Amino acid sequence: PETRILSVDEEDMKTAVGEAVALLAAGEIVAVPTETVYGLAADAFNADAVAKVFAAKERPAFDPLIVHISSLKELAEVAELPEDIAGVVKSLAGAFWPGPLTIVLPKTDKVPDLVTSGLPTVAVRQSGSVIFRNIGKALGRPIAAPSANRFGRISPTSAGAVMKELDGRIPLIIDGGACREGIESTIVKIESRGEQRPLIHVLRAGPVTKEELQKFGKVVIEKRVTDQPDAPGQLESHYAPRTPLLMFEKPEDFRPEPGKKYGLLSYRGDPKAGYMDLHEWEVVEELSPGSGKLIEAAVRLFYVMRFLDEQGLDAIVAEPVSETGLGVAIMDRLRRAAVSQG
Ligand code: TXA
Ligand code: MG
Repeated sequence: PETRILSVDEEDMKTAVGEAVALLAAGEIVAVPTETVYGLAADAFNADAVAKVFAAKERPAFDPLIVHISSLKELAEVAELPEDIAGVVKSLAGAFWPGPLTIVLPKTDKVPDLVTSGLPTVAVRQSGSVIFRNIGKALGRPIAAPSANRFGRISPTSAGAVMKELDGRIPLIIDGGACREGIESTIVKIESRGEQRPLIHVLRAGPVTKEELQKFGKVVIEKRVTDQPDAPGQLESHYAPRTPLLMFEKPEDFRPEPGKKYGLLSYRGDPKAGYMDLHEWEVVEELSPGSGKLIEAAVRLFYVMRFLDEQGLDAIVAEPVSETGLGVAIMDRLRRAAVSQG
């Protein structure tokens, strides 16, 4: 189909909500902004609609989708709350929902197996985006939505980026402007330990940081990176620009090949980081030119990766970011982008 972009009017979301809901209710798929990245939405209870999501993304069926609820009432429709973890799940939901935290829970029978790739669990979150939640409320059903990019590519943080990924494959993109978080939600799985504090396994680092989660249990960052279908969310070759992305232990390890064009993905253009004066870069892009803060870097990360990818470079060199707070999630995305080049 021809892909249409429809802008959200701040005062009057009704038109955008109405058009998105009409398509979703008819079993179609629509790209919708969330606070993290743009999602490709389908009625979570309609397996045929969900199948269209996998097709448009060219996503392998073994990689399950996140289900977005618009109210806590909907949580009970999609997930069970085992007694031993109900308390911590409710605390996490109370603290971070609506927001960028996804919780993996046992699924109910209502959720089609295609959504969860046959897993007995479902990944659930309530998005912090008002437009996304309004669409969910008006639809009256939970929404399955992965990031609105083709499989293995960079997640889109603007309607234009979705267009580049999925033009001609979906009927509608709701344009809600740039995403305010810029990287995908933190995914956790809870393990009860009886009398002890529960374990919170972080399956994907994201905007909700280890430091924030520690209040609710003992946090374990899952470092496992694999291409095994039984370990979803941990696929190695994610977030990949087409241009090779290189990272080094120390700046001096970079050995440019003569005649090749290199771009630098710098944190804030600071020569003290050791990269700015290392080479005559074709182009330098800064993750955090304004504030020098990690939140700005996260918001700009995928935008800058996309931009550099379009510059016809032979390779992109990325400065490492300090791994505290949001820096953990940013480095996770950079490493995966780098590793996928083999
Ligand atoms: O911020 C986000 O999470 C965005 C927005 C659209 O909500 N969504 C997103 O979806 O990033 P996606 O499909 O690109 O990534 C979801 C990840 C996948 O890597 C998938 O393997 C993992 O969540 N996942 C889904 N269900 C799971 C489950 N039952 N157990 C473990 N991991 C799961
Ligand atoms: Mg994704």
